[in-house]
Amino acid sequence: MWETVDPAAPGGTMVPMRAAIIHRTGPPVECLEVTDLPLPQPGPGEVRLRLTHAPVNPADLNFIEGSYGRKPDLPCVPGMEGAGVVDAAGPGVSGWDPGTPAVPLRAGECWAEYLICRASDLLALPAGCDPVQASMLRVNPATAHGLLRAAGPLPPGAWVLQNAGSSACAHCVIQLANLMGLRIVCLVRRTESIEECLALGADAAFTDDTEAVPKVRELTDESPSMLALNAVGGDSALRLMNLLGPGGSLVTYGAMARKPLKVPNGLLIFKGLTLRGYWMSRWLETAPLEEIHAVYTELAALTAAGLLRQPVAAVYPLQDIKTAVTHAAGNARGGKVVLALKHAAD
Ligand SMILES: NC(=O)c1ccc[n+]([C@@H]2O[C@H](COP(=O)([O-])OP(=O)(O)OC[C@H]3O[C@@H](n4cnc5c(N)ncnc54)[C@H](OP(=O)(O)O)[C@@H]3O)[C@@H](O)[C@H]2O)c1
Repeated sequence: MWETVDPAAPGGTMVPMRAAIIHRTGPPVECLEVTDLPLPQPGPGEVRLRLTHAPVNPADLNFIEGSYGRKPDLPCVPGMEGAGVVDAAGPGVSGWDPGTPAVPLRAGECWAEYLICRASDLLALPAGCDPVQASMLRVNPATAHGLLRAAGPLPPGAWVLQNAGSSACAHCVIQLANLMGLRIVCLVRRTESIEECLALGADAAFTDDTEAVPKVRELTDESPSMLALNAVGGDSALRLMNLLGPGGSLVTYGAMARKPLKVPNGLLIFKGLTLRGYWMSRWLETAPLEEIHAVYTELAALTAAGLLRQPVAAVYPLQDIKTAVTHAAGNARGGKVVLALKHAAD
């Protein structure tokens, strides 16, 4: 629970940090404000990070609206991921030198200049990792990694289908699928996204409408897809289900169209499809720490090598948070909106 700093109040001389904060849930542009908060102090086993960048993800907007899978403990600082450098270490912490670039793997509250997290939840970044790309490491790359394994191992050359092909998560799926030797078809809602997906390594991309169905079917005829990744819902998800082979799996991880799944009974009874959900937060809460570190170490190395990139539409200073969330909520952005967390000392 955060208390804001009032510099005019007696004892209000403590060092502040700038942060975006919400006191209620609702439309992000109305609920968010930038304020001064006391500089948090690391306790035993904890590290303070000086954050440099944090993206605005659809989940952040849903969290502020109160429609996400986890409700805010108000007032609270949103921001599910970010990157920065180690600033201070609490008692009992060793090996984290000030200035070490790092990503917090389990903490939220990243739309602030500083963040406290457990030292065991920090990932040191490899040399050459772009800080903006690093700030987007925690959510989408790990989700793409999990999605491609959500229905079990796939043989080399297997077809994977996905909608919302222009999204950052879908871009991560394309890049990781390429590295795994899988073939990938993207469905996109704007024709200009087709070229983008192909340039990134998708084997095929089509606009997400009924005309896509025979084209994908022709392409995957000899080896029908057993895995389709759904971040849209409604008719788009139904198209994916119709394109899966018998016994295939639809993995739903997002609902950008805010439309429920429509599942004809025959797809479950006669085609034997399996419908699953995937939530990266559940993996982070339940997987052993060694597994989490191993996955992120691999993803950070790929990011540093330039093999895993997410497009960036714009970078805004923290004080422009309302413009940033308005941009992030808009259509056809063509990349992530990222906050640059400038510090008074910079
Ligand atoms: N379950 C998990 O653990 C998990 C983890 C990460 C992400 N996600 C979810 O994955 C989805 C994508 O996240 P992201 O960060 O990759 O998103 P993003 O980069 O911000 O992109 C948003 C995507 O959604 C599309 N879109 C927006 N409104 C739509 C609509 N009404 N109908 C169809 N498509 C629409 C956009 O298409 P245009 O480019 O045409 O605008 C774009 O492809 C979100 O739903 C997010 O919550 C889930």
